[in-house]
Amino acid sequence: MSAPDNDIIQAAQHLGSAKNIAVLTGAGISAESGIPTFRDALTGWWSKYSLTDLATPQAFARDPERVTRWYDERRCIIAQCRPNPGHVALATLQRAIVEQGKRFTLITQNVDRLHQAAGSTDVIELHGTLWVWRCVDCDKEAEERGPAFQSFPPHCTCGGLRRPDIVWFGEDLPADAMDAAERAVASCDFFMSVGTSAEVYPAAGLIAQAVHAGADVLEINPTATSFSSQATWSVRGKSGEVLPLIVQAALGVGARNGRACPRYM
Ligand code: APR
Repeated sequence: MSAPDNDIIQAAQHLGSAKNIAVLTGAGISAESGIPTFRDALTGWWSKYSLTDLATPQAFARDPERVTRWYDERRCIIAQCRPNPGHVALATLQRAIVEQGKRFTLITQNVDRLHQAAGSTDVIELHGTLWVWRCVDCDKEAEERGPAFQSFPPHCTCGGLRRPDIVWFGEDLPADAMDAAERAVASCDFFMSVGTSAEVYPAAGLIAQAVHAGADVLEINPTATSFSSQATWSVRGKSGEVLPLIVQAALGVGARNGRACPRYM
């Protein structure tokens, strides 16, 4: 990426003086870790597969073998992936903001837990995680960090079918996660939307809520979304490149009592 543009400089200045920051991430933040997004035209999962065949409770009821095999393959892909500089920048930002006694909330739609691997804490997972599988009969959950399952669909010791502990289309989001996300967004003065197409609700509705609450809104995405025109700054770029610049610049601002610190630019 070339020299930071004015939007990046301005956004970093506002981020540096913000008191309550909320961040929403989507699949795009993990793209530079090698994990495909869902809706990118050539590489996204939903350009190759039909989401109604794989990501709904009806699909699981129809063909649990196919659905669980697909999710387990994704789990094994993710197991090979590491956090990228975008994840690391958000973890660095959280530590610095919390040390300054300010509030920081990271909300993600991702099921890969790369934010946690980068050091982020208290991450709100709106769509669950691919690392945990649960029995549809007895609800027993277990973290699955090992190799691929040996047979599909996997079964619980009670005999019930096991499924990934993620949210499929048509299912409710975990209420405590959504409540916590909405509370954080309602009270934030700086909101970032990073690497999400903003097409899936209710997560995408958090962006509108931030706009409505009067927060500064920064979007980071290589392509425009339906929310780009409402964002205070919409920066076209990869999060693994843009986030480190913004975070470094913002923390420089903080270190100099709210004034921009050009050496970070
Ligand atoms: N940096 C930032 N953004 C990127 C990058 C990158 N390197 N690469 C791609 N993107 C952007 C794309 O331009 C796109 O707008 O990331 C976005 C990814 O959008 P989606 O694939 O729709 O992913 P997401 O918004 O997380 O999807 C929401 O839909 O099917 C589901 O449950 C799944 O949680 C997911 C939900």
